[in-house]
Amino acid sequence: MAPNNKISKIQELVYEIRVGEVMKKDVFTVSPRTHMSVLRVILKENRFSGAPVIDKGELIGIISIEDFIKWLAGREEDCPISEKMTRNVSTLYTDEPLTNAISKFDQHGFGRLIVIDRYSKKLEGILTKGDIVEGLLKKLEIDYDDEESRRLRIQHFFEDISADKTVLLFQYDVIGHDFKRAGECSSRLKATLKRLGLHPQTTRRVAIATYEAEMNLIIYTDGGHIRVRVEPHEILVRVEDSGPGIPDIEKALQPGYSTAPEWVRELGFGAGMGLNNIRKCASKMDLRSTAGKGTRLGIYVSVEDGAGCEAN
Ligand SMILES: Nc1ncnc2c1ncn2[C@@H]1O[C@H](COP(=O)(O)OP(=O)(O)O)[C@@H](O)[C@H]1O
Ligand SMILES: [Mg+2]
Repeated sequence: MAPNNKISKIQELVYEIRVGEVMKKDVFTVSPRTHMSVLRVILKENRFSGAPVIDKGELIGIISIEDFIKWLAGREEDCPISEKMTRNVSTLYTDEPLTNAISKFDQHGFGRLIVIDRYSKKLEGILTKGDIVEGLLKKLEIDYDDEESRRLRIQHFFEDISADKTVLLFQYDVIGHDFKRAGECSSRLKATLKRLGLHPQTTRRVAIATYEAEMNLIIYTDGGHIRVRVEPHEILVRVEDSGPGIPDIEKALQPGYSTAPEWVRELGFGAGMGLNNIRKCASKMDLRSTAGKGTRLGIYVSVEDGAGCEAN
Protein backbone atom coordinates (compact mmCIF):
# COMPACT_ATOMS: atom_id res chain seq x y z
CA MET A 1 0.00 0.00 0.00
CA ALA A 2 1.63 3.23 -1.09
CA PRO A 3 1.18 5.67 1.79
CA ASN A 4 1.17 8.69 -0.53
CA ASN A 5 -2.09 8.05 -2.26
CA LYS A 6 -3.80 6.72 0.83
CA ILE A 7 -5.60 8.78 3.38
CA SER A 8 -3.40 9.80 6.29
CA LYS A 9 -4.20 9.52 9.93
CA ILE A 10 -4.52 13.30 10.11
CA GLN A 11 -6.99 13.29 7.23
CA GLU A 12 -8.97 10.63 9.05
CA LEU A 13 -9.03 12.71 12.17
CA VAL A 14 -10.19 15.92 10.51
CA TYR A 15 -13.34 14.08 9.53
CA GLU A 16 -13.78 12.54 12.93
CA ILE A 17 -13.17 15.44 15.26
CA ARG A 18 -16.00 17.96 15.60
CA VAL A 19 -15.44 21.70 15.85
CA GLY A 20 -16.99 21.73 19.33
CA GLU A 21 -14.30 19.41 20.64
CA VAL A 22 -11.37 21.69 19.87
CA MET A 23 -12.80 25.23 19.92
CA LYS A 24 -12.07 27.60 22.77
CA LYS A 25 -15.21 27.84 24.87
CA ASP A 26 -14.25 30.76 26.97
CA VAL A 27 -15.06 33.57 24.59
CA PHE A 28 -14.76 37.21 25.45
CA THR A 29 -17.64 39.08 23.85
CA VAL A 30 -18.48 42.75 23.50
CA SER A 31 -21.67 44.71 23.10
CA PRO A 32 -22.31 46.74 19.92
CA ARG A 33 -22.83 49.78 22.15
CA THR A 34 -19.36 49.59 23.71
CA HIS A 35 -17.20 52.40 22.40
CA MET A 36 -14.03 51.88 20.39
CA SER A 37 -12.06 53.77 23.06
CA VAL A 38 -13.22 51.23 25.65
CA LEU A 39 -12.39 48.38 23.31
CA ARG A 40 -8.91 49.82 23.04
CA VAL A 41 -8.42 49.40 26.79
CA ILE A 42 -9.94 45.90 26.73
CA LEU A 43 -7.72 44.78 23.88
CA LYS A 44 -4.65 46.21 25.49
CA GLU A 45 -5.30 44.67 28.87
CA ASN A 46 -6.39 41.29 27.65
CA ARG A 47 -4.41 40.80 24.45
CA PHE A 48 -7.38 39.57 22.45
CA SER A 49 -7.10 39.46 18.72
CA GLY A 50 -10.78 40.23 18.29
CA ALA A 51 -14.16 39.56 19.82
CA PRO A 52 -17.66 38.51 18.75
CA VAL A 53 -20.23 41.26 19.09
CA ILE A 54 -23.35 40.06 20.90
CA ASP A 55 -26.66 41.86 21.18
CA LYS A 56 -29.50 40.36 23.22
CA GLY A 57 -27.77 37.00 23.19
CA GLU A 58 -27.40 37.00 19.41
CA LEU A 59 -24.24 37.18 17.38
CA ILE A 60 -24.44 40.26 15.17
CA GLY A 61 -20.84 40.75 14.12
CA ILE A 62 -17.19 40.45 14.98
CA ILE A 63 -14.74 43.18 15.79
CA SER A 64 -11.27 42.09 14.79
CA ILE A 65 -7.92 43.59 15.50
CA GLU A 66 -7.88 44.60 11.80
CA ASP A 67 -11.12 46.59 12.24
CA PHE A 68 -9.62 48.20 15.30
CA ILE A 69 -6.36 49.15 13.54
CA LYS A 70 -8.32 50.64 10.64
CA TRP A 71 -10.20 52.82 13.10
CA LEU A 72 -6.99 53.84 14.84
CA ALA A 73 -5.19 54.61 11.60
CA GLY A 74 -8.10 56.72 10.36
CA ARG A 75 -7.86 58.89 13.48
CA GLU A 76 -11.60 58.89 13.53
CA GLU A 77 -13.73 59.99 16.40
CA ASP A 78 -14.86 57.62 19.07
CA CYS A 79 -17.94 55.64 18.13
CA PRO A 80 -19.80 52.45 19.14
CA ILE A 81 -18.30 49.14 18.00
CA SER A 82 -21.41 48.53 15.88
CA GLU A 83 -20.19 51.13 13.39
CA LYS A 84 -16.82 49.51 12.85
CA MET A 85 -17.47 45.82 13.26
CA THR A 86 -17.66 43.30 10.44
CA ARG A 87 -21.28 42.21 10.12
CA ASN A 88 -20.91 39.37 7.72
CA VAL A 89 -19.61 36.72 10.09
CA SER A 90 -18.66 33.33 8.79
CA THR A 91 -19.72 30.80 11.38
CA LEU A 92 -19.26 27.13 12.07
CA TYR A 93 -21.54 24.73 13.89
CA THR A 94 -20.25 22.81 16.89
CA ASP A 95 -21.15 19.49 15.26
CA GLU A 96 -19.34 20.08 11.96
CA PRO A 97 -16.23 18.03 11.28
CA LEU A 98 -12.91 19.88 11.27
CA THR A 99 -12.60 19.31 7.53
CA ASN A 100 -15.38 21.88 6.99
CA ALA A 101 -13.59 24.35 9.23
CA ILE A 102 -10.36 23.89 7.30
CA SER A 103 -12.06 24.58 3.97
CA LYS A 104 -13.64 27.71 5.41
CA PHE A 105 -10.27 28.95 6.67
CA ASP A 106 -8.82 28.25 3.21
CA GLN A 107 -11.68 29.93 1.40
CA HIS A 108 -11.88 33.13 3.38
CA GLY A 109 -8.46 33.54 4.90
CA PHE A 110 -9.98 34.46 8.28
CA GLY A 111 -7.85 34.16 11.37
CA ARG A 112 -10.70 32.88 13.49
CA LEU A 113 -14.20 31.56 13.07
CA ILE A 114 -17.10 31.92 15.43
CA VAL A 115 -18.76 28.70 16.50
CA ILE A 116 -22.50 28.57 17.12
CA ASP A 117 -25.03 25.86 17.95
CA ARG A 118 -26.77 24.54 14.82
CA TYR A 119 -30.24 24.82 16.34
CA SER A 120 -30.25 27.59 18.93
CA LYS A 121 -27.71 29.68 16.93
CA LYS A 122 -26.19 30.63 20.26
CA LEU A 123 -22.51 31.45 20.50
CA GLU A 124 -20.58 28.42 21.74
CA GLY A 125 -16.95 29.25 21.08
CA ILE A 126 -14.25 30.49 18.78
CA LEU A 127 -11.89 28.49 16.59
CA THR A 128 -8.45 29.32 15.22
CA LYS A 129 -6.12 27.20 13.07
CA GLY A 130 -3.98 26.81 16.17
CA ASP A 131 -6.90 25.16 18.00
CA ILE A 132 -7.20 22.68 15.14
CA VAL A 133 -3.54 21.72 15.33
CA GLU A 134 -3.70 21.45 19.11
CA GLY A 135 -6.81 19.26 18.92
CA LEU A 136 -5.25 16.99 16.31
CA LEU A 137 -2.09 16.49 18.32
CA LYS A 138 -4.05 15.65 21.44
CA LYS A 139 -6.19 13.14 19.59
CA LEU A 140 -3.19 11.50 17.96
CA GLU A 141 -1.73 10.88 21.38
CA ILE A 142 -4.95 9.44 22.79
CA ASP A 143 -5.48 7.21 19.76
CA TYR A 144 -1.99 5.87 20.02
CA ASP A 145 -2.59 4.81 23.62
CA ASP A 146 -5.98 3.39 22.67
CA GLU A 147 -4.63 1.24 19.92
CA GLU A 148 -1.76 0.06 22.01
CA SER A 149 -3.96 -1.29 24.74
CA ARG A 150 -6.85 -2.43 22.55
CA ARG A 151 -8.01 -6.00 22.36
CA LEU A 152 -9.43 -6.37 18.89
CA ARG A 153 -12.75 -8.11 18.95
CA ILE A 154 -13.98 -8.42 15.38
CA GLN A 155 -12.28 -11.73 14.79
CA HIS A 156 -13.82 -13.12 17.95
CA PHE A 157 -17.16 -11.82 16.84
CA PHE A 158 -17.01 -13.73 13.58
CA GLU A 159 -15.37 -16.77 15.19
CA ASP A 160 -18.28 -17.07 17.59
CA ILE A 161 -20.69 -17.56 14.70
CA SER A 162 -20.80 -21.07 13.38
CA ALA A 163 -21.54 -20.89 9.66
CA ASP A 164 -19.83 -21.53 6.36
CA LYS A 165 -20.23 -17.90 5.46
CA THR A 166 -21.12 -14.95 7.64
CA VAL A 167 -22.22 -11.62 6.30
CA LEU A 168 -23.64 -8.66 8.18
CA LEU A 169 -25.78 -6.20 6.27
CA PHE A 170 -26.76 -2.68 7.27
CA GLN A 171 -28.84 -0.21 5.31
CA TYR A 172 -29.06 3.55 5.75
CA ASP A 173 -31.52 5.75 3.90
CA VAL A 174 -30.35 9.22 2.97
CA ILE A 175 -32.75 12.06 2.29
CA GLY A 176 -31.59 14.49 -0.39
CA HIS A 177 -30.99 18.18 0.46
CA ASP A 178 -31.47 17.52 4.18
CA PHE A 179 -28.40 19.35 5.44
CA LYS A 180 -29.65 19.23 9.01
CA ARG A 181 -29.02 15.51 9.06
CA ALA A 182 -25.82 15.65 7.07
CA GLY A 183 -23.42 13.00 8.24
CA GLU A 184 -25.96 11.15 10.37
CA CYS A 185 -25.86 7.88 8.42
CA SER A 186 -22.09 7.69 8.36
CA SER A 187 -21.99 8.47 12.10
CA ARG A 188 -24.44 5.67 12.81
CA LEU A 189 -22.45 3.27 10.68
CA LYS A 190 -19.26 4.32 12.40
CA ALA A 191 -20.74 3.71 15.84
CA THR A 192 -21.92 0.28 14.67
CA LEU A 193 -18.52 -0.73 13.30
CA LYS A 194 -16.85 0.49 16.46
CA ARG A 195 -19.25 -1.58 18.49
CA LEU A 196 -18.35 -4.64 16.44
CA GLY A 197 -14.77 -4.07 17.49
CA LEU A 198 -13.35 -3.29 14.09
CA HIS A 199 -9.90 -1.77 14.04
CA PRO A 200 -10.21 2.04 14.49
CA GLN A 201 -8.38 2.72 11.25
CA THR A 202 -10.66 0.46 9.21
CA THR A 203 -13.66 2.03 10.90
CA ARG A 204 -12.40 5.50 10.10
CA ARG A 205 -11.75 4.74 6.46
CA VAL A 206 -15.20 3.31 6.01
CA ALA A 207 -16.69 6.26 7.91
CA ILE A 208 -14.88 8.91 5.85
CA ALA A 209 -15.75 7.30 2.54
CA THR A 210 -19.36 6.85 3.61
CA TYR A 211 -19.56 10.43 4.86
CA GLU A 212 -18.41 11.78 1.50
CA ALA A 213 -20.80 9.52 -0.39
CA GLU A 214 -23.63 10.52 1.95
CA MET A 215 -22.86 14.21 1.39
CA ASN A 216 -22.97 13.70 -2.37
CA LEU A 217 -26.40 12.11 -2.03
CA ILE A 218 -27.55 15.06 0.06
CA ILE A 219 -26.04 17.73 -2.18
CA TYR A 220 -26.63 16.35 -5.67
CA THR A 221 -29.59 13.98 -5.47
CA ASP A 222 -33.03 13.59 -3.93
CA GLY A 223 -31.62 10.86 -1.76
CA GLY A 224 -30.61 7.26 -1.94
CA HIS A 225 -29.44 4.23 -0.02
CA ILE A 226 -26.22 3.19 1.58
CA ARG A 227 -25.90 -0.57 2.00
CA VAL A 228 -23.03 -1.94 3.97
CA ARG A 229 -21.83 -5.51 3.81
CA VAL A 230 -19.42 -6.59 6.52
CA GLU A 231 -17.45 -9.78 6.05
CA PRO A 232 -14.48 -10.94 8.09
CA HIS A 233 -12.01 -9.87 5.41
CA GLU A 234 -13.77 -6.95 3.74
CA ILE A 235 -16.32 -4.22 4.09
CA LEU A 236 -18.29 -3.18 1.06
CA VAL A 237 -20.28 0.05 1.06
CA ARG A 238 -22.70 0.35 -1.85
CA VAL A 239 -24.21 3.76 -2.44
CA GLU A 240 -27.07 4.11 -4.86
CA ASP A 241 -29.20 6.98 -6.07
CA SER A 242 -31.51 7.72 -8.96
CA GLY A 243 -30.37 11.32 -9.22
CA PRO A 244 -28.98 13.29 -12.15
CA GLY A 245 -25.95 11.05 -12.64
CA ILE A 246 -22.37 12.12 -13.35
CA PRO A 247 -21.85 12.96 -17.03
CA ASP A 248 -18.04 12.79 -16.89
CA ILE A 249 -16.67 10.50 -14.20
CA GLU A 250 -13.00 11.20 -15.00
CA LYS A 251 -13.63 14.90 -14.46
CA ALA A 252 -15.61 14.35 -11.26
CA LEU A 253 -12.70 12.35 -9.85
CA GLN A 254 -10.23 15.17 -10.36
CA PRO A 255 -9.24 16.81 -7.07
CA GLY A 256 -10.91 20.20 -6.73
CA TYR A 257 -13.57 19.61 -9.39
CA SER A 258 -17.00 20.46 -8.06
CA THR A 259 -20.36 21.52 -9.42
CA ALA A 260 -21.59 22.50 -5.94
CA PRO A 261 -23.42 25.85 -6.00
CA GLU A 262 -22.11 28.81 -4.05
CA TRP A 263 -24.52 28.41 -1.13
CA VAL A 264 -23.39 24.83 -0.62
CA ARG A 265 -19.77 25.99 -0.61
CA GLU A 266 -20.70 28.59 1.97
CA LEU A 267 -21.81 25.72 4.19
CA GLY A 268 -18.28 24.33 3.96
CA PHE A 269 -18.94 21.61 1.38
CA GLY A 270 -18.05 21.37 -2.30
CA ALA A 271 -14.26 21.41 -2.08
CA GLY A 272 -14.20 18.82 -4.85
CA MET A 273 -12.23 16.31 -2.78
CA GLY A 274 -15.00 13.87 -1.88
CA LEU A 275 -14.65 11.21 -4.57
CA ASN A 276 -10.92 11.57 -4.38
CA ASN A 277 -10.87 10.92 -0.67
CA ILE A 278 -13.23 8.00 -1.09
CA ARG A 279 -10.76 6.49 -3.53
CA LYS A 280 -7.94 7.03 -1.05
CA CYS A 281 -9.86 5.33 1.75
CA ALA A 282 -10.83 2.35 -0.38
CA SER A 283 -8.87 -0.70 -1.38
CA LYS A 284 -11.02 -0.62 -4.51
CA MET A 285 -13.67 1.78 -5.77
CA ASP A 286 -16.24 1.17 -8.43
CA LEU A 287 -18.16 4.19 -9.71
CA ARG A 288 -20.82 3.85 -12.37
CA SER A 289 -23.21 6.52 -13.43
CA THR A 290 -25.69 7.21 -16.19
CA ALA A 291 -26.71 10.79 -16.85
CA GLY A 292 -30.39 11.21 -16.04
CA LYS A 293 -30.61 7.80 -14.37
CA GLY A 294 -28.43 7.76 -11.32
CA THR A 295 -25.18 6.73 -9.73
CA ARG A 296 -23.85 3.55 -8.12
CA LEU A 297 -20.74 3.64 -6.07
CA GLY A 298 -19.01 0.60 -4.58
CA ILE A 299 -16.42 1.22 -1.89
CA TYR A 300 -14.37 -1.80 -0.83
CA VAL A 301 -12.26 -1.57 2.30
CA SER A 302 -10.17 -4.61 2.85
CA VAL A 303 -9.69 -5.59 6.47
CA GLU A 304 -6.26 -7.02 5.65
CA ASP A 305 -5.18 -3.86 3.88
CA GLY A 306 -2.99 -2.74 6.72
CA ALA A 307 -6.04 -1.20 8.28
CA GLY A 308 -7.79 -4.28 9.44
CA CYS A 309 -7.70 -6.30 12.56
CA GLU A 310 -4.43 -7.69 13.65
CA ALA A 311 -4.18 -11.37 14.40
CA ASN A 312 -4.65 -11.92 18.08
N1 LIG B 1 -24.30 11.00 -6.47
C1 LIG B 1 -24.00 11.98 -7.34
N2 LIG B 1 -24.91 12.37 -8.26
C2 LIG B 1 -24.60 13.34 -9.14
N3 LIG B 1 -23.42 13.98 -9.20
C3 LIG B 1 -22.47 13.64 -8.30
C4 LIG B 1 -22.70 12.62 -7.34
N4 LIG B 1 -21.58 12.49 -6.60
C5 LIG B 1 -20.69 13.37 -7.11
N5 LIG B 1 -21.22 14.07 -8.14
C6 LIG B 1 -20.52 15.06 -8.98
O1 LIG B 1 -19.14 14.87 -8.84
C7 LIG B 1 -18.51 16.09 -8.41
C8 LIG B 1 -17.34 15.79 -7.51
O2 LIG B 1 -17.78 15.20 -6.32
P1 LIG B 1 -16.87 15.27 -5.03
O3 LIG B 1 -15.51 14.76 -5.38
O4 LIG B 1 -17.57 14.58 -3.92
O5 LIG B 1 -16.72 16.80 -4.74
P2 LIG B 1 -17.79 17.88 -4.20
O6 LIG B 1 -18.94 17.12 -3.61
O7 LIG B 1 -17.03 18.66 -3.22
O8 LIG B 1 -18.19 18.66 -5.40
C9 LIG B 1 -19.64 16.86 -7.75
O9 LIG B 1 -19.39 18.25 -7.75
C10 LIG B 1 -20.84 16.49 -8.60
O10 LIG B 1 -20.86 17.23 -9.80
MG1 LIG C 1 -18.73 15.54 -2.41
